[in-house]
This record gives sequence, C-alpha cells and structure tokens, in this order.
Amino acid sequence: MSERRSWPALDGIGYGCDYNPEQWPESCWPEDVALMAEAGVNLVTVGVFSWSRLQPAPGELTAGWLDRVLDLLADAGIRVDLATATASPPPWLVAAHPEILPVTEDGRRLAFGARQSYCPSSAAFRAAAVDLAERMASRYGDHPAVAMWHIGNEYGCHVPACYCERSAAAFRRWLEARYTEIGRLNEAWGGAVWSQDYTDWSQIEPPREAPTFANPAQQLDFARFSSDELLACYRAERAVLARHSPGTPVTTNFMGLFRPVDQFRWSGELDVVSVDSYPDPADAEAHVASAMAYDLTRSVGAGRPWILMEQAPSAVNWRSVNVPKAPGQYRALSLQAVARGSDAVLSFQWRAAATGAEKFHSGMLPHAGTDSRVWRDVVSLGADLRRLAPVAGSLVHAQAALLLDWESWWALELDSHPTSRLRLAELLGEFYRPLLQAGVSVDFAHPQSDLPGYRLVVIPALYLVTDAGAANVARFVEDGGTALVTFFSGIVDPADRVRLGGYPAPWCELLGLRVQELAPLPEGVAVGLDGLDAADTAAADTAAAGRLWQDVIDLAGAQPLLTYADGHLAGEAAATTHSCGRGEAMYLGTLPDRVTLAGLVQRACRRAGLELRADLPRGVEAVRRGDYLFLISHSDRAVELDLGAKRLDLLTGAMVGPAAVLAPRDALVLAP
Ligand code: GAL
Ligand code: ZN
Repeated sequence: MSERRSWPALDGIGYGCDYNPEQWPESCWPEDVALMAEAGVNLVTVGVFSWSRLQPAPGELTAGWLDRVLDLLADAGIRVDLATATASPPPWLVAAHPEILPVTEDGRRLAFGARQSYCPSSAAFRAAAVDLAERMASRYGDHPAVAMWHIGNEYGCHVPACYCERSAAAFRRWLEARYTEIGRLNEAWGGAVWSQDYTDWSQIEPPREAPTFANPAQQLDFARFSSDELLACYRAERAVLARHSPGTPVTTNFMGLFRPVDQFRWSGELDVVSVDSYPDPADAEAHVASAMAYDLTRSVGAGRPWILMEQAPSAVNWRSVNVPKAPGQYRALSLQAVARGSDAVLSFQWRAAATGAEKFHSGMLPHAGTDSRVWRDVVSLGADLRRLAPVAGSLVHAQAALLLDWESWWALELDSHPTSRLRLAELLGEFYRPLLQAGVSVDFAHPQSDLPGYRLVVIPALYLVTDAGAANVARFVEDGGTALVTFFSGIVDPADRVRLGGYPAPWCELLGLRVQELAPLPEGVAVGLDGLDAADTAAADTAAAGRLWQDVIDLAGAQPLLTYADGHLAGEAAATTHSCGRGEAMYLGTLPDRVTLAGLVQRACRRAGLELRADLPRGVEAVRRGDYLFLISHSDRAVELDLGAKRLDLLTGAMVGPAAVLAPRDALVLAP
C-alpha cells in the first residue's frame, strides 16, 4: 500500500460533474463556467475520454485546448479532478497495435469503435497509457485547478477480463508466481478430475469457452488474475503521478456492487474512494440499491469521506427503457450520498451531449437549456449542498456489518453449483433492506477485517471462507457479537475445495448444527414456515414462507427459531440460534419471505443491542453522519414523522417538529 494523500481539497461539499468541453465549440466554454458558478459547481472531472484530442498521434500533447479549459476553471475557482485520459485508446494506437483489442471468452476479438477497447495485459496499451499519464502529470501536476487525479474509468465495466494470447501468457506468469510448482497448481485445481493434470505452465489457458463447465478453480484464479491485471494498469499510472504530482490525491471510480473488481484489494491504492451510481428511476426501490452502493463505497474506503463521482441528473441512455428521474429524485439520491459519507456529489455529465452514443443521457445542462426542470433542480441542489457544508469531513459509525469477500463472490456464482438462482448482490439486498427500514447503519466488511467494532455481523452466502476468516467470525461471536449466517456459507476453501464433514464445516460448532445436504428450491417453489414470535411478524398478513433454499438442519445444540411448516421437512428446523461464548450465532437454512426476514433481522439487532426504529414510514431512511441526522424520503407521497422535539433543519435553516410532514422525496438534516 502506498502512502495516502489527503482529501478533502474543498471547503464544504463538492458539487459538479464530468465536463467534456472538447465535445463543444470553444465559444461555449465561458457560458459553461458562468452557468457552473450559477449552479454552485466547484468540482469537475475533465478529460476522461479525451485521449484522441490530447494526443492525436504518438508523442507530443496537443493540449492547448485543455490549458485554456483548466485556466478558465481555475479563474472561476472551480477545482478539477483531472483524468489521465487513458480510459479509451485512440484509433492510431489500435491501428499500430491491433493486439490491444480485447478477446472474449469464445475467442472473438472486439472491434474498435466504442470505448475501453483494450486488453489489460497488453504491453503496448500499458506503455502508451503510462506515457500519456506521464505527459499529463508533468504538464498539469502543478496546475492550480487540479485538486485530484482520476485514473482510467470504471475499470472492468465493459471488458472485465480478456482471453487473448497475451492475457493467457500473463495468466501463466501470475499462476507461476502464486503456485511456484506445477504440482501445487494441479493440487489446487483438482487436476485428477477430468484428466487435467498439467505438466508444463505453457499448457495452461484462460478458462475459454470449452465443451462443458471449465474447471472452477481455474475460473476462480482467472477472476483473481483479471482483477489484479486491471489493478496493475491502475498502479502503473499511479506510480507516474506519484513522481510528477506528489501530494495530489488519486482516485478511480468504482461501480458499487460490481463483481469483477475486488475493491477491498484495490482500495489501499486510492487516496479517496469514488463510485458511480445509476439506480433505475423506474425501480420503486432504487434508493435501496444506491444506499447499499454508498455504504459499500464508504466501507472500502475504511470509513473515510468518499466521492459520488457519477450519477445521472435524470435519465440514462443505456437501459432498454430510460425513464427520467421523478421530481425530487435527483436531490433525494444526492442527499442520500452525503448522508452516507460522501463529501462530493458529481453527475455525468455537464452538458447533455449533442453527438455520440450518449446523446440521450441526461446532463446537468439539458438539451432544452436553462429553462427546464432539470436545470432548476441542478441549481437548487447546489444551494442545498452549500448549506450542508458543516457535514463535510464527518463520519458515519455503523455497528452492523454485512460480510463481503470478492473471492467468495467470484466462486459463489460459478457454474455447476446447486442452483444458478443464488446471486450475491440480490441476497445482500434482502438483508440490507430490513436494516435500512429499521434505520440501522451498515458497513460492508471483509471476513478477515477487524470485526470487534461491530455488534452484529450478517453473513449472506459466504461460500468461500479462509481459515483465518472463519476463525475471525467465531472469535467475534465468542467475544459477545451476534452473527447471522445463511445457507451456502463456509462451503469451500480458497481453492474452491469443499470443506468436509457436513456444512458449514468451519462453523458447525459455532452454530450448533450440521447440514448434510445442499437443497436449493426451484423458481416459484416456496416452503411454509412456522414459529417466529407474533411480535416479530406483527405486520404479517400472509403465511410465512421460505424461498431459494431449504437446508436440512441437524441440531447439535442450536435452538430452532423457525421450522418448516409443510413438505417432507415439516417440523424440522429452518432457522436456528446458538449461544457461543458471550455471543450468539443465528443460522438461516432458507430465505424467508421479506416480512419474516425483517422479523429475524430485527431479532438479531435486538440481541446485538442495536437501536432500531420502528417508526420510519416506508421509503424513508434515517442516517446519522457525525452530529447530524438525515431523514430522507424516497416516497412519492407525503409522510409524517415524529422528531421527538423541535429541531433545527440544516437544509432550510428553520426549526421543525416535533411533528413534521415530509413532502414527496423531501429531506431534513437535523442539527444536534
Ligand atoms: C458510466 C461512465 C460514464 C458514462 C455514464 C453514463 O458508466 O463512467 O462515462 O458513460 O456511465 O451513464
Ligand atoms: Zn488480452
């Protein structure tokens, strides 16, 4: 891990966008800057896709235009998150080195003409990217506008892995470094299965499209390798920036719950973590997905303030149907980011484009111009964010954590498993939702991280666990913590080798049970459940039922919390609890319906001594950041809240409460 440079570089909360002035005539730029000032924009990301305009041929930069843009911005007091501009290689580079183009699993070389057209293992690409980063850093390292550096863009978004010959060679080198002897690789990969014992490194290929399921351990290693290769591209540029622009913080924009990139492994290389967030406005639960992504971003940054690098002011262009944001939704989702620890709220992009693939993506300055709802919302959000300046730099303290390990995620979603219906992001959402509804702040934590700061740890389908991770969880419970573990956890070791003796082998003792057989449920099949206290399911008007999975649990000390109500397992335990040391370990052998699951999650929270809110109307979130309590409604109806006392609202400067009515998608930020 290299030394971290300090952030924030702004007073108060940052506000802005991607700014792509090269797509517009220079005569627009003064107007851009004047309108940015009107909206309160103080931070813009420049140059992400500008390679062909900065370096139209190998060698010298043709960056006069960028000099003028940066000067204009500096004069207006607008800080810049300057890209190294390497996210999309230009035609001349690809023409000179066609092998830069990435190859898919089935051997197709992807053509030039979109973006991110590069193989992360390509030496020609890396050399050209480092060269460009070096020219950018030496030219702009001291520019007064530059507040931070932005390397690449959404690593892995379009090309999470490349299967070309150069990638194959790099994969072999990576494997040699990991295993040193081919025999150890055969051991880890289960070479005896299907006649796959290698005798030489040169025989190994990436897991390309094969007659049937590729070796899962090979696939898992390839996922590790692919994340590492992208990281190596990032690191190479970071090293250049460290030389030419020391002291300026560096970021790249993550994508929330995005499987290809192991953010915990990357985060040590980012001075400030940033994320792009595009929840679907057509989804009534868009705010649940974004809240989760924001909490994840804060967590991978070890709790420090982070940056919302991109969101859409209104519609995007890349879904099959692109619904605009509802009135108030841009504001509510922006405030949500601040509530969850963000110190800057940026959008893609400044002007809605007139040309190119993204011309129907919203911008802060829409095609319609300033006489538009979007522009008025943009200006008023700028004013809101200025009022939130006292919040900047403060922290969110979570006492609950969802355990997440990218290696386990990679392995979990490989093929030839008991079910293909188990998707981690969805399962995490199932547990996140009731915690959000109860106003419980949640971090995401790596299984081997420091857990004692938490009271509750939720472990959804942590399929792969290391010995150290398993012991860490057990210690957490013994020392008084509460753990809630689900089916299909603790199944394999880091080589994807099954841990024998009954599931989940490393935690049978902790949980006081043993599962003999893995039993997923088909789509549309549910199994009745009995047993939660009436108090836990007060809102239930339908019978409790389990989905997705149905473990047969042999109790060995655990007490049942739920039993199966029907089918061949009627009367058997479906969810259990077990005291262990000073703590308690709960187990779910099925995924209960949402009402029943909420009851169980609340039970776990109460056991853990967490403060729960039962009063939050649907769609309203309550988050404490530093001394401030954010109450944000994502509902399209007015909702009533009891604030307990009269309180100062930072957004309006007015005293509110004790009874308050929140208009649709409105928010309060209550001072202490
Ligand atoms: C992101 C990307 C941006 C822009 C945006 C549109 O994935 O980083 O450059 O394309 O999507 O929603
Ligand atoms: Zn490749």
